[in-house]
Amino acid sequence: MLKLKENKRLFVMPNIEMRPFTLNDAVAYYELYNHSSVKKYIPEDMIPKDLKASSEQISSLFLQNRAIPYWAIVDAQTDQLVGTCGFVGSDFYHKRLEIAYDLHPNFWGRGIMFNSLKVCIKYAFERMSMQRLEAVTLRENVESAKVLLRLGFVHEGTLRNFKFFRGKMRNVESFSFVFEDYKKMFGKNV
Ligand SMILES: CC(C)(COP(=O)(O)OP(=O)(O)OC[C@H]1O[C@@H](n2cnc3c(N)ncnc32)[C@H](O)[C@@H]1OP(=O)(O)O)[C@@H](O)C(=O)NCCC(=O)NCCS
Repeated sequence: MLKLKENKRLFVMPNIEMRPFTLNDAVAYYELYNHSSVKKYIPEDMIPKDLKASSEQISSLFLQNRAIPYWAIVDAQTDQLVGTCGFVGSDFYHKRLEIAYDLHPNFWGRGIMFNSLKVCIKYAFERMSMQRLEAVTLRENVESAKVLLRLGFVHEGTLRNFKFFRGKMRNVESFSFVFEDYKKMFGKNV
């Protein structure tokens, strides 16, 4: 079961939680998306150029009329944003969601995204009655593919010319996680 805490906080792992964004996240959000090791995997239009743009992006993307959840991943003691994850595309009729995620490099290698995405998966299947989650990565983003495969996502193939990235069209690797995978992951009683 999802461990929902006060103020819509979700338990991820000791000292790490997911919560809705606030405008107080603007500095950490700016730093996350402008870190060279993260930025190279993010389309240019999604990278805030300064703190004002960071606040505006948080406000327009996450605070106003968002139909599907996207969370700040935070240090539970300090409430500092260390990453983000959630859903970016949806097709409710066909019960599909696209999942996305980014973590500040200071926090890589501790299982934070693995556990955050597990929470997203539970949320999608338990709360939103989804049947399929999708994720796409650039081929060179080995770390991103690794976390998906470790969670049980299946590589479905290459989508050609899928993203406009640094001035050119790029292919992406496509992964999916379906309800049957969810039952395998969390047991038969779901
Ligand atoms: C992709 C990305 C989110 C992965 O983040 P992460 O938190 O390091 O990933 P994981 O949670 O899978 O942790 C990875 C490592 O922690 C280890 N780990 C440590 N404690 C763990 C735990 N409790 N549970 C699971 N794994 C744990 C894993 O074994 C793994 O080690 P390995 O790399 O030696 O195999 C991160 O590299 C990132 O933000 N990259 C840049 C942006 C990006 O690519 N975004 C996605 C675009 S598609």
